[in-house]
Amino acid sequence: MNSVAIATQRLFKSFKDSDGSELPILKGVDLEVKVGEVVAVVGASGAGKSTLLHLLGGLDRPSAGEVYLAGQPLSGLAEQQLAEARNQRIGFVFQFHHLLREFSARENIMMPLLIGDVESSQAEARAEALLRAVGMERRAGHKPPQLSGGERQRVAVARALANNPLVLLADEPSGNLDNQTAEGLHDLFFQLRDEREFAVVLVTHNLEFAGRADRVLRLHDGTLHAITDSLARHETIP
Ligand SMILES: Nc1ncnc2c1ncn2[C@@H]1O[C@H](COP(=O)(O)OP(=O)(O)O)[C@@H](O)[C@H]1O
Ligand SMILES: [Mg+2]
Repeated sequence: MNSVAIATQRLFKSFKDSDGSELPILKGVDLEVKVGEVVAVVGASGAGKSTLLHLLGGLDRPSAGEVYLAGQPLSGLAEQQLAEARNQRIGFVFQFHHLLREFSARENIMMPLLIGDVESSQAEARAEALLRAVGMERRAGHKPPQLSGGERQRVAVARALANNPLVLLADEPSGNLDNQTAEGLHDLFFQLRDEREFAVVLVTHNLEFAGRADRVLRLHDGTLHAITDSLARHETIP
């Protein structure tokens, strides 16, 4: 049985409204994702899906409750340790690639490795291997403006995996792609999941993508609800 990669316990998050009142978004989220598992999170716009991913990835702190990364509570980490955990154990892919436009695909993938103090020739070798893994070896020297949307997302996936993270968090990674390109990216996610050892939490509006996940959860009214397989595959999401 695979170990738990990331978990939450009674996770709450509120934001201050414009009038200063508290706006509760997450109201007790419990989640457990194992290594090798792909969990899709669906839900209406504004439901708090991105907020949840930010908390899982240590980009923001919860109002109450806990996030456990490989069993370790994130609240116990100081900012510096949290930054290290984000660099070493977590990979992010967003709807928009967030690649640095002045740098080549290879250099973008090397960046998190260099930040993690990997020696540059080693970082380059690892970037090359990742470019092959995502089918982008022939675009290594291209900068983001010279790549198509699908190609940029592939590079973004490679960058997210640079430090061999335990958890890959993806926020509508194919939300900006046409159907055919999206399908190729979805295939890539599952291919990488099968080849490597990490957990995936995936936010998507794409029915086909969510339907391929091991589990589909709906974020509604601040908590997660399991969606049965048949619902995930045949009915409208969210
Ligand atoms: N930093 C923030 N400050 C204030 N409100 C926020 C902040 N981030 C998100 N929100 C609010 O929280 C709600 C959930 O946002 P989000 O997590 O982005 O939803 P989703 O990704 O499901 O569309 C929205 O109403 C949004 O306006
Ligand atoms: Mg969002």
